Amino acid sequence: MNERSTLTVNEKGHLEIGGADCVELAKNFGTPLYVMDEEYIRRMMRVYRDTIQKEYDGNGMVLYASKAFSCKAIYRIAEEEGLGVDVVSGGELYTALQAGFPAEKIYMHGNNKLPYEIQEGLDAKIGCIVADSYSEIDLIDCEAKKRGIRQTVLLRVNPGVEAHTHAFVQTATTDSKFGFSLQDGTAEAITKYALSKENILLEGYHCHIGSQIFEKQSFALAVKKCMDFVALMRDKLSFVPTKMNFGGGYGVWYTDEDKKLPPEGYSEYVEELIAELKKQSKEKNLPLPYLLIEPGRSIVGEAGITLYTVGAIKEIPGVKTYLAVDGGMFDNPRYALYQSKYTPILANRANEENTQIVSIAGKCCESGDLIAVNVNLPKAERGDILAILSTGAYNYSMAMNYNRNFIPPCVLVKEGVAEYIVKPQTYEDLVRNDVLPERLKK
Ligand code: LLP
Repeated sequence: MNERSTLTVNEKGHLEIGGADCVELAKNFGTPLYVMDEEYIRRMMRVYRDTIQKEYDGNGMVLYASKAFSCKAIYRIAEEEGLGVDVVSGGELYTALQAGFPAEKIYMHGNNKLPYEIQEGLDAKIGCIVADSYSEIDLIDCEAKKRGIRQTVLLRVNPGVEAHTHAFVQTATTDSKFGFSLQDGTAEAITKYALSKENILLEGYHCHIGSQIFEKQSFALAVKKCMDFVALMRDKLSFVPTKMNFGGGYGVWYTDEDKKLPPEGYSEYVEELIAELKKQSKEKNLPLPYLLIEPGRSIVGEAGITLYTVGAIKEIPGVKTYLAVDGGMFDNPRYALYQSKYTPILANRANEENTQIVSIAGKCCESGDLIAVNVNLPKAERGDILAILSTGAYNYSMAMNYNRNFIPPCVLVKEGVAEYIVKPQTYEDLVRNDVLPERLKK
């Protein structure tokens, strides 16, 4: 059991999240169902916010990386907790604005922002655009000029730190589609270019070294490399950034192969990053910049579970046993994409001992439509409620309607009460944008 969240087992032997009985949730809302625990999300947001407050005199802001889980409710929670947000598309921007999120606390990302996305960002008066190409600098400058403003911009740089779960290595050259390399002069060149633009107010740099990273040293190394570069830019171009954004990437628990941390444990990542930033700034005689961090997965990942109903069970003698559930890659494509690992629990018999090894399959017409492979479970039967843990990040946000399956609804639970924050789709939703040309009409 994952004792770091509000996941427990009640006296009926049912899994509970945020005080809500998962068997009741399945009965009342149907399956598949995403369940998000509000308390956990708020706790995580506060840990990051309070660490910046305490360790950095509040001279910074936490941006929730909304690609991890985006819907109106999460932007409301982020605002209530005093966070800003990072958006990566017109759609995420629109959702945030629809939720009434303050535009000045929105940062816009993307390696290929489309002209209309930049225009919409400027029209909404968003706080900052993190630029990632020359053509984008031109576009921002031109659109800002039309509006008679100077748009605040950060430049995305690539510090060449490659981080992994078990080791981190430094790469001399980088082949990422994101950012400008600090090593080969390209970051310097784009800095000069951005500084030459009248309607761009260059405030600093952004980097993001990757996701699901557990090594604190990787983040510190990125800070060091960025600050080396900052000192160089001061010396060569007399440009001193006032803001530095070090991205997100803090790892979460999916299975017992991953490090377990209580929400409060995540302050360590930020403390280490801040300590390095202070050290570097002092050594280089640079003013402390306004600090931004962008956690996504760690805020919502462990806050979410997905509930399914077990359907067909297929035993292939001597090979494996498949439990098929009523969801699949359309609500969680992460196994299909990354062979990601997850921990399942039979929510209606959560105290029972594991006695079998099974693979959990979805209902799509694809052999690779799997949720978890070779996992331990008690003997499962058709009709059991299966919970997959740690699905709060990059599940709903990456869901799709493949095979014209419904993207499941999502409920937010707090103190035992569950409410929809994303309602169920209907068949009409699936055909809403379908058009029959005249010649095909019956
Ligand atoms: N900032 C930037 C610029 C990013 O690109 C990302 C994630 C984040 C912040 C948030 O990182 P986090 O704290 O969530 O690790 N779909 C993949 C994850 C892709 C992450 C992309 N960027 C997955 O399911 O694992």
